[in-house]
Amino acid sequence: MRIDPWGSEAYDYDRLREEFGIEPLTELAERMPPNRLIDRGIVFGHRGMDRVVRAMEAGDPWALMTGLMPSGPMHLGHKMVIDQILYYQDQGADVFIGVADVEAYATRGQSIEECRRLAVEEYLTNYIALGLEPDDCQVYFQSKRETVKDLAWRFGAKINWSEMESIYGFEGSTNMGHVVSPLIQVGDILHVQLEAYGGPRPTVVPVGVDQDPHIRLTRDVASRFRTYSVKPAEEGGLGVFVKTDDEVEAWIDAAEDALADTFGELERNVPYKALYVRDADPADLPVVDALVGAVEADRGGTGFVPPASTYHAFMPGLTGGKMSSSEPKTAIFLRDDWEDVEAKVKQAKTNGLPTAEEQREKGAEPIGCVIYEHFRNHFAEDDDELQMVYDECRSGARLCGECKQHLLGNMETFHEDHQAKLDEAEDRVDEYLRED
Ligand code: TRP
Repeated sequence: MRIDPWGSEAYDYDRLREEFGIEPLTELAERMPPNRLIDRGIVFGHRGMDRVVRAMEAGDPWALMTGLMPSGPMHLGHKMVIDQILYYQDQGADVFIGVADVEAYATRGQSIEECRRLAVEEYLTNYIALGLEPDDCQVYFQSKRETVKDLAWRFGAKINWSEMESIYGFEGSTNMGHVVSPLIQVGDILHVQLEAYGGPRPTVVPVGVDQDPHIRLTRDVASRFRTYSVKPAEEGGLGVFVKTDDEVEAWIDAAEDALADTFGELERNVPYKALYVRDADPADLPVVDALVGAVEADRGGTGFVPPASTYHAFMPGLTGGKMSSSEPKTAIFLRDDWEDVEAKVKQAKTNGLPTAEEQREKGAEPIGCVIYEHFRNHFAEDDDELQMVYDECRSGARLCGECKQHLLGNMETFHEDHQAKLDEAEDRVDEYLRED
C-alpha cells in the first residue's frame, strides 16, 4: 500500500498505524492538557511527539508548523486543523502557517493570486474568528519565502530520483514543479528551526494521514543534514557519532564541552569518530541529541531536531462520500448562511435504517455516521453529551430526525457567534501576514 498525498482515497487507520509505524497517542496524551480531538481518538496517531511533549512540560521553546493548500472555501473538515493549532498555541507553541501556493500551482495549476485570496479571505479570516492569536504566530507564502525555496534546493542535493519515485510513484511524465513541491514542503517544515526563525527546537506538524509520506521524507532529510548522530551504544549508554571526516576531533571536543555539565561519564574514541555517554539512559537520547544539535547550529550547521507529526481522521461528507470544498452539498462551510446549514443537515445521509420501526427496534450505528461525526468532531461540548448521542442511537431511542435537530441546536449558537466574529477578523489579517 502506498499513501498518495495528491489522491483521494479513504484509509483504514489501524492498518496505517501498523503498516507505517505510526504510533498511538494514548500514553503521551496523559502528559498533555486535555484535548477534545486527541481524547476522542480523532487525532489517532503520531511520529516523534515525545520531544514536543517534553518541551511542553519543561517550558522549553517549541514550534507548530502546518501548511494549507486551499482549493475553495473553508469547511468544517478543515476546522480540525485550526482547533489543533489553537490548542498548541495555548500550550506555548510558536506558530507558523505556510500557504502552499507553489504546491497548488505545480500540482493543480491554481494561480498564485487565487490561492492567496482563498488563504486570506477564507482560511486566515476564519482562523482569526476562531481565536488564533497574532503573538508568535505568522502566516507566510511559499512563493515569497526565499529561505524555504533555498532549503528545497539544498535538500535536493541529498535526495535522489529513485527515492522520489518510490515514495511518490512519480513517473517520467510528472511535471518538475510537482517533483519539487515535496522538497518545498520539507523546507516549510524545517525552516522554522533555522536561527532566524527561532533555532533548532521540537516542532509538531498536525496533518491528515495523506501527508505522511512528506513527514517521513522530512524526518529523513533532517537527519541527513545533521553532523552528529546519537544512538544507543552497544556497551551501554549512548554514542554520539560524528558523520563528517573534517575536523573530527574538534567536533568531538565541542560535543564533550556541551555534554559535560549534564553527564559525567564521557568516553572519547576519535578513530571511531565517537563520544560515548556511558551514564546516559536510552530515554535521554532526545536530551543528548538536543545538546549536540545546539553545537551544530553554533558551528554553522543545522542541528535539526526531528520534527514530530500527528495524524487526524477525516470527517465523512454530508452526502455519503468525501467532503469537498468544490461540492457545496458535501460539507458545511464556515461562511454558509443559517438556511443553508439547516438544509444541508436535514438532507444529510445518515446511518439510519430504512424505517423508523426498524430503527427503534434494532438501533443504528453512530460510528461513521456524518451526524454523529459532527458531534464528535465539533459540536458535543462534553463527553457525556457525546456518550448520550451514541447510546441513544445504538439503542434505537433516538431517530435521525431528532438527532439532526439536536445537532442543529448546538450548531446554531456557534454559527451566530462565528458570523459576528468574522466581520471583526477581516480587519485583522495584516497582524498575521508576512510578505517574506
Ligand atoms: N501538502 C499540504 C496539503 O496538501 C500543504 C502543506 C504544504 C503542508 N507545506 C506543508 C502541510 C507543511 C504541513 C506542513 O495540504
